[in-house]
Amino acid sequence: MALSRFISLEGGEAVGKSTQITRLAERLTKLGHKTIVTREPGGTPLGESIRHLLKHAPEGRGMTPEAELLLFLASRAELVRKVIMPALDQGTWVLSDRFLDSTTVYQGAGRQLPVEMVQLVNAFAVGGYLPGLTLVLDLEPKEARRRQLKRTKPAGEGNFDRMEAEPTDFFDRVRQGYLDLAKTQPQRVKIVPAAGSIEKTADAVWKEVAGVFSL
Ligand code: TMP
Repeated sequence: MALSRFISLEGGEAVGKSTQITRLAERLTKLGHKTIVTREPGGTPLGESIRHLLKHAPEGRGMTPEAELLLFLASRAELVRKVIMPALDQGTWVLSDRFLDSTTVYQGAGRQLPVEMVQLVNAFAVGGYLPGLTLVLDLEPKEARRRQLKRTKPAGEGNFDRMEAEPTDFFDRVRQGYLDLAKTQPQRVKIVPAAGSIEKTADAVWKEVAGVFSL
């Protein structure tokens, strides 16, 4: 079976996923491939409302890890069926800024919810639609924090969103969770070092994509 033309970009906070996904989309489009970019949570009107609840809304503060898990999955279930499935069916490339691995890593490794339960509900949400390739942009959590502080406006940790405000040991577990995923699923999940310049990382991303999809 041909590899699904579905690529997800993953990683901790402020590793440069949005920038890199834009670069990758530009490269694919230049080669004549129809490409859409989406994100999680979000990517549909319902998903964007859920995103707001998860990141910024006052009523989301102090939500239980179980409710958080199910909100991420509700957003994903909607995105898969309304955006990803139809695009892939038409031969369009789909690039997603985060997908199911974020749940495995943030809610599984980060929040330490039972792994089997996270896998079960994650599988239900994606309905068999898995990325052909997942690239994890890898950066030391300390360096990520520095970048995050720079991009937060107005500046200061007090303005981090609900997820960004987690303590450093949470992000250490997230990083380790991604490294473990790349070890257990080496065919699909590849680590791309993201400490260098935007150009250097973009080239490394392209090298993986071009290699895996023979472009
Ligand atoms: P981002 O789009 O700026 O990366 O923000 C999304 C946040 O939500 C980020 O902190 C990662 C987190 N997240 C989860 O915890 N679980 C998930 O399943 C997804 C998709 C994101």
